[in-house]
Amino acid sequence: MEEIKIITVVKKFAHDSELNDSDRLLLNHAKEAVKTAYAPYSKFYVGCAVLLENDEIIFGSNQENIAYPSGLCAERVAIFHAGSKYPNVPIKSIAVTVKAKEYIVKEPIACCGACLQSMSEFELKFKKPMHIILQGEVGDIMIAEGVKTFLPFQFWVDELAKQ
Ligand code: THU
Repeated sequence: MEEIKIITVVKKFAHDSELNDSDRLLLNHAKEAVKTAYAPYSKFYVGCAVLLENDEIIFGSNQENIAYPSGLCAERVAIFHAGSKYPNVPIKSIAVTVKAKEYIVKEPIACCGACLQSMSEFELKFKKPMHIILQGEVGDIMIAEGVKTFLPFQFWVDELAKQ
C-alpha cells in the first residue's frame, strides 16, 4: 500500500496593489465581465477573463437558463470561446471574480469541478499550466499555478486523448 499525500499551494494577497500589472489588469477585466452575466435565477454573477499566449484577452460570464442545467459557467464560456477563436493558442492566465445580488462575497470562490475539468484539458492539450487568479467581490485575492492545485486527479486517459 502506498499513501499519496497531495499538497496544494496557493498565494493569498490582501490587496490588488500587491499584484503585478498583468494580473491586476486581468482581474479588472474579469470584474468588467461580471456586468455581462445573465444570472436571473441564482443572482450570482461571475466574470472571467482569459489571457492567451498571443496576449489577447477573452471574456466570459455565467449564462443561465430557465432549464437550469442548460446554463454555463463564466469560465467555460470564456475558455470555449478562446478555444473556438484560437484553437492553437495556449491560455496563459485566467481571472475569475463574482458578485452576488443579496450579499457581499468576501472570499475568493474556487472554480467548480466541471470548469476545472475543462480548464485542465487546455493545460494538457498545450502542456502548459495556467496562472489562476481568484477574488470574490472584495477581499483577498488567491493565485495558483495550474488547475492541479484545485483538481489533482482530473479525468484524463492518454489513449483517449490520442484519438
Ligand atoms: N458559476 C460559475 O460561473 N462558475 C463557477 O465556477 C461556479 C458557478 C455560476 C453558475 C451559476 O450561474 C451561478 O454561478 C450559481 O451557481
